[in-house]
Formats: sequence, C-alpha cells, structure tokens
Amino acid sequence: MGSSQRIVCWRAVTPAAKSWHLSIRHRIFVEEQRVIPFTDVDDWDSDPDTVHVLAGRGSAAVGTVRLYRTDTCGRWKGDRLAVLPGHRAGIAGMRLVRFAVSTAAAAGGDVMDAFVQLQNVNFFERLGWEHNGPPADYFGLPHQPMTFELSRADSLAESEIPDDACLRLPAARTAPSALLAAVS
Ligand SMILES: CC(C)(COP(=O)(O)OP(=O)(O)OC[C@H]1O[C@@H](n2cnc3c(N)ncnc32)[C@H](O)[C@@H]1OP(=O)(O)O)[C@@H](O)C(=O)NCCC(=O)NCCS
Repeated sequence: MGSSQRIVCWRAVTPAAKSWHLSIRHRIFVEEQRVIPFTDVDDWDSDPDTVHVLAGRGSAAVGTVRLYRTDTCGRWKGDRLAVLPGHRAGIAGMRLVRFAVSTAAAAGGDVMDAFVQLQNVNFFERLGWEHNGPPADYFGLPHQPMTFELSRADSLAESEIPDDACLRLPAARTAPSALLAAVS
C-alpha cells in the first residue's frame, strides 16, 4: 500500500520524464510480469503524437500509461498501464486510467480501447469500461478487449503538473538492464 500523499498524473514530455516512464514500464512488463520479452518499447513510442503519462506520489514517479489514436474517426487505444509494486492499491492505477480517458476525450476522441489482463477486468469494469468481444492472446497471455465511451470521461485537470526536477524514480529491486539504457 502506498502512502497517503496525493497522486498526480501528467504527460511525460521531457527526456527525463520519458525515460522514467519507460523505466517503470520495463520494470513491470519485462522484469516483473515477464509478459513482454526483451523490451516493451515499440513503434508507438517513437510516434510524436503518442501520449506518455506518468503518475507521481509526493516526489516519486510511481506509474505509467500510454495512449494514442488508432484511426481518424475518434478511436484511441490505452496501454502500458503500470504502477510500481510498493505503490499499488493506493489509487494510482485508477488515476492513470481516468487521466488517459480524459486526455483522449479532450483531444476529441469518442472511444478508447484496451486489452486488459484478466485479473484486472474487475478493476476496469469498476471504472466504467465494457467488454468488447472474447478474450484474445497478447504476447501469449489472454487479454480481455474492453472499451470506454469517452463522452463519459471527466474533464481533464491539467493544472497540477509538477516540476520534473523535483521528482525521483524509486529504486528498483533489481538493477535495470543495459538494454533499457540503450532504448530510452
Ligand atoms: C493494474 C494496476 C495498474 C492497478 O494499479 P493500482 O495503483 O494498484 O490501482 P488502484 O489502487 O487504483 O486500484 C487497485 C485495487 O486496489 C483497491 N484499492 C485502491 N485503494 C485502496 C485502498 N486505499 N485500500 C485498499 N484497497 C484499495 C482498488 O479498489 C482496486 O481493487 P480491484 O483490483 O479489486 O479493482 C497495478 O496493479 C499494476 O501495475 N499491475 C501490474 C501491471 C498490470 O497488470 N497492468 C495492467 C495490464 S492490463
């Protein structure tokens, strides 16, 4: 359980923030869950329109989500939702999902899609997401396709963006791989 300090989400636009974002993702999806081998960085990360998001608690960067348009008709996708283990069950995940849908709605989106790991389906349902077809494999692991109608998103609160210089990335349990340094 994380501390009672407030969770704040913002776009990771500076090189430092982007590298923290990638570092958290790598720790969770490659090193902890081992869902994605080698690296979870893909072509969407080099698309200048992709939105990389960080969540902070106090002075620590603790979570990520990524979002991007998948067509020109209002469809968006959210993925790479991750919260560092010591900071889970403290609403960072909920804040990140809400920030993602609010960001896409503010950009004129209509619907957001996500492939959700089965153990997280209830969490997404509680946030208003709906099933969209049967589970399908993603990197060999079953995921539930889910959608969110962006007209239901809260308006985006952009006023609480912290100064990156005040933040730190909590120490990893294991040393980050050399690969991460190479890709970030
Ligand atoms: C999924 C994930 C992002 C959720 O992040 P989180 O910060 O723990 O999310 P929240 O704290 O908002 O909510 C998580 C749960 O804790 C509960 N919770 C939140 N605050 C709580 C509190 N103060 N006390 C007790 N429980 C609390 C929530 O009700 C929620 O319960 P649920 O899982 O039954 O829905 C996180 O577990 C994670 O990074 N997992 C590994 C990567 C992953 O699975 N990513 C998603 C791929 S689809």
